[in-house]
Amino acid sequence: MNKPDLCVARNREKVNIKYINLDLDIKPVFKGKKYFLRTYGCQMNVHDSEEIKYYLEKLGCIKTEILEEADVVVLNTCAIRENAKDKVFGYLGRCKHLKKEKKDLIICLCGCLTEQPSEIEEIIKKHSYIDIVIGTHNINELPKLILNANKKQQIEVYSNSDTVFENVKYSRDSKISAWINVAYGCDKFCTYCIVPFTRGRERSRKIEEILKEVQDLKEKGYQEITLLGQNVNAYGNDLNLGYDFSTLLEEVAKIGIPRIRFVTSHPWNFTNKMIDIIAKYDNIMPYIHLPIQSGSDKILKKMNRKYTIEEYKELFNKIKEKVKNVSITTDIIVGFPNETEEDFEQTLDIVNYCKFDGAYTFIFSPRVGTAAALMEDKVSIKEKEERLQQLNTLVNKYSLENNKKYIDKIVPVLITGESDKNNKICGYTETMKLVNVEGNKELIGKIVDVKITDAKSFSLDGIAI
Ligand code: 5AD
Ligand code: SF4
Repeated sequence: MNKPDLCVARNREKVNIKYINLDLDIKPVFKGKKYFLRTYGCQMNVHDSEEIKYYLEKLGCIKTEILEEADVVVLNTCAIRENAKDKVFGYLGRCKHLKKEKKDLIICLCGCLTEQPSEIEEIIKKHSYIDIVIGTHNINELPKLILNANKKQQIEVYSNSDTVFENVKYSRDSKISAWINVAYGCDKFCTYCIVPFTRGRERSRKIEEILKEVQDLKEKGYQEITLLGQNVNAYGNDLNLGYDFSTLLEEVAKIGIPRIRFVTSHPWNFTNKMIDIIAKYDNIMPYIHLPIQSGSDKILKKMNRKYTIEEYKELFNKIKEKVKNVSITTDIIVGFPNETEEDFEQTLDIVNYCKFDGAYTFIFSPRVGTAAALMEDKVSIKEKEERLQQLNTLVNKYSLENNKKYIDKIVPVLITGESDKNNKICGYTETMKLVNVEGNKELIGKIVDVKITDAKSFSLDGIAI
């Protein structure tokens, strides 16, 4: 973008990131107690919950899916849209009730919602029975705070925006597929987005630490890793050490894990070199999530997205041309303040042009503290809902069309688990399409050839061969 390769040169000013090696001594003093953990939001939160799980299990707690059985309740929250918040309040209501019967119950609120001053002040005031409030930068304080719980409300939300913790331990959800944080925070400040406020400045982990983690996961038999960053492809730009995401990607690929993925890519930071590396290595999956957000240059400018539709198209076409069989998905927001019918038509136009494999679509949700929350907006919610519906119909049409191309093909699928559909197993193609597979459960954890027999908008059906 303007041109993609330039972004490497346009590094931000040098920040001195503090790297802290975690070495926590956690004693199993909660042996036999049960924890209940709910996670909302993005993959970053899902991975944070794996860190939370590690601490709870080190303390000796075992997991329960029944809230009423729990001795420790942890709600890992999301702040990206208003509806993410509403779900948390449902659980808080039940916790309040439970706490009346179970005085020792420990209730902990963490995640992005805690990083929003206006929200958290209100929550703390209204829900004084919450024992611990912990910010996204302070998760490793959790064991200490749990040990001190039930004395007084403890609030540990402070910015560690210049700190990166290394040697973080996780209790991973899967033995097949693993998340790896490569960078934290975001510097982009898209005007609608709360993330730069809740997750802080962009800061990259050291390449050698990431590679060590990848090597360790390979030795443990992991088949797939996903490199995580709010803007994963801006990795390294804050370090000014002469390497960037393409260097990382190549070094990770050389370690030889069968499948490598990465999310989320910002179009502005996508370089030609990255495309070449993705195309060069068979174990870098041909799947890219490339949020476009809107089809209107006027709205993109108001969103501070730093690219035009022409530039996005150019990048999109370059990726399609160079990466064989690539699938591309996107994020789209409708109803950004004062989005006109014409702006929305342009969004439909770009969807018709790109024919995305899939798209996550959202109605704009004003977040306190962001620039867009202060913008005048005359578009009614009814109109926004109608636009969303119209967009979804179009997006689903192309998802189905793309999926139908797989019928009768034989494709490698990493089987990740049992399907909830009549005794089947399920997994993902290299291009990140969910497949419900007729096959033996012993195939779980393996990459197998699957003949695709049917296609829907959101999944494929197939038979293991
Ligand atoms: N309103 C609606 N959607 C949003 N997103 C981020 N912030 C908002 C908001 N305030 C969407 C963007 C982003 C995805 C993770 O969530 O499309 O890419
Ligand atoms: Fe939010 Fe934009 Fe950063 Fe993505 S790039 S996390 S949308 S501010």
